[in-house]
Amino acid sequence: MQKLLNKITCGDCIKILDKARKPFADLIFADPPFNIGYKYDKYNDKVKCKNYIAWTQDWMAACKKVLKPHGSFYIAIGDEYAANVKIIADELGLFMRNWIIWHYTFGQQMKKKFARSHTHIFYFVNDKNNFTFNDLAVRVPSDRQLIYNDRRANPVGKMPDDVWHEYSRVCGTFKERTGWHPCQMPESLLKRIISASSDPGDCVLDPFCGSGTTAAAAYQLARNYVGLEISQEYVENARKRLSRLKKQQPANLFLNSTELNELKRLLSDIRKPAKQITEDKKLLELLANQFALRMNNHKRYSTAEIAAALKDITD
Ligand SMILES: C[S@@+](CC[C@H](N)C(=O)[O-])C[C@H]1O[C@@H](n2cnc3c(N)ncnc32)[C@H](O)[C@@H]1O
Repeated sequence: MQKLLNKITCGDCIKILDKARKPFADLIFADPPFNIGYKYDKYNDKVKCKNYIAWTQDWMAACKKVLKPHGSFYIAIGDEYAANVKIIADELGLFMRNWIIWHYTFGQQMKKKFARSHTHIFYFVNDKNNFTFNDLAVRVPSDRQLIYNDRRANPVGKMPDDVWHEYSRVCGTFKERTGWHPCQMPESLLKRIISASSDPGDCVLDPFCGSGTTAAAAYQLARNYVGLEISQEYVENARKRLSRLKKQQPANLFLNSTELNELKRLLSDIRKPAKQITEDKKLLELLANQFALRMNNHKRYSTAEIAAALKDITD
């Protein structure tokens, strides 16, 4: 296991995970091919339905074996096999905490049916009485706070719903887009999952790491990662993505790189332009308050420091 840590390793995830001697993952995020004919360079994404289901059973069982007793297991899947994933998880003894719908803009356009604009994300745990969930790390300011100025508002914000609208698909024109992988997930979505269901220093496993999004998000949130991927070309490109990220220097006077990453994550959760926030005193105070709650480090952050950092991350 040590030789997989903080690396992206090329190979079949089932074969690699079967070799692990004991559970090592605090959190697993799996975004397997959906068997809908996507064009990957190595994997054939159109196999017989019964073979795909048998394979899903195998990789889910391999993941479950390496998940620590208190661990969490998230699985992204399309409509076609969502029901199968839920049934297999039940058979493996996993407990469902949420059936999340990721609703994205820029869905693929159709002529004779409605445009698909969602993916299912299952959130399972190994032990329903013992798991990590950092609610303060993912709360967002509520409408009572943002719009209505309602004194009954919970000062620590509200938990996000189980339908996630905040994260767009990573489209061709986006700065984040790597360009060499057909279905890259947004880092911001992974950061919500990792912040909620793991602690700094924990180990996050992605058995289908593709362009390396989970590893990139885990690294930025000070978690360890294990990325597995069957395509040598994707592995090489994902490794380059990670090494570029590791070379980036924090570019702000007041906040370190962990804080800056956290501020970026909060900004994408709130979905308001940084300029609007810095120009509105009340909104800026709310954001600074939510940010301090997420950091949970007993530090004080002035609105001036937050405004300066917002300017740096959006310039
Ligand atoms: C849906 S993509 C993952 C995308 C990833 N979440 C991202 O953000 O870039 C699925 C990936 O699984 C890889 N794959 C398919 N079978 C595999 C296997 N048995 N072991 C490891 N990786 C595999 C494919 O090459 C593909 O890159």
